Amino acid sequence: MSTDPASPVLRIEGLVKRYGPHLVIDGVDLDVTAGQVVVFVGPSGTGKSTLLRCVNGLEDIQGGRILFEGQPVLSRSSAIHAVRRRIGMIFQSFNLYPHLTALQNVTLAPVKVLGEPSKEVEERARGLFRKVRLEHRAHAFPSQLSGGEQQRVAIARALAMNPHLLMFDEPTSALDPETVGDVLAVMEDLAREGRTMLVVTHEIGFARHVGDRMIFMDGGKIVEDRPPEEMIANPENPRTRQFLGSILHH
Ligand SMILES: Nc1ncnc2c1ncn2[C@@H]1O[C@H](COP(=O)(O)OP(=O)(O)O)[C@@H](O)[C@H]1O
Ligand SMILES: [Mg+2]
Repeated sequence: MSTDPASPVLRIEGLVKRYGPHLVIDGVDLDVTAGQVVVFVGPSGTGKSTLLRCVNGLEDIQGGRILFEGQPVLSRSSAIHAVRRRIGMIFQSFNLYPHLTALQNVTLAPVKVLGEPSKEVEERARGLFRKVRLEHRAHAFPSQLSGGEQQRVAIARALAMNPHLLMFDEPTSALDPETVGDVLAVMEDLAREGRTMLVVTHEIGFARHVGDRMIFMDGGKIVEDRPPEEMIANPENPRTRQFLGSILHH
């Protein structure tokens, strides 16, 4: 792992990703430094999820390279498991194990994958349930929780692995509107503690208040990468303007 505080947590250089003949990521360059919160927006099918999946080494790439904490992310290398353990991923669908309690969902991987003592992990998990404001729900099963509560368990589960990077792919898109705010509040807390975060979301309020950078992607390219306040107030590119207009006024 890199120890130089000036070097980026994540560096992407000339990334190209194709599915067969279909070019999905078309030469993306990106540096993310420690503590940055980077919000990605853009039309559906523009490569945002694919980009996160490449960072996690879940996809073969056809060009360029990805460095996480100075180490190349190579989907087929044996080192990829160590990289993935350092990256917490939160999806639109929470994917909790339905037959396990919330607490068991959170303690499973640290015990089984990292081999940590279950007592220690449980203690840490209790702190994480406080952090996601669910201390009273630790023994509930997923089916007894609202979508927003399940997503907060999924966040606690990611945090239990002590990740160095958190990636959120439309974490509130599948939620009932009344539970969205609780999830965004937890994400805001994480941002304020200095976590490094990549967040795909159309929650413009979150981007404006919490994001350090806002990236507009279109056609597999980064079209615009600026402070959220500036991009929202004054998008430079006509496609950015059109897209932001469509999500702000729907
Ligand atoms: N496993 C896959 N096989 C083939 N095409 C895919 C696969 N995953 C995504 N795609 C295509 O890649 C493009 C980008 O998808 P995606 O990254 O999911 O976009 P976004 O997250 O921005 O909506 C889309 O055209 C999608 O159909
Ligand atoms: Mg997506």
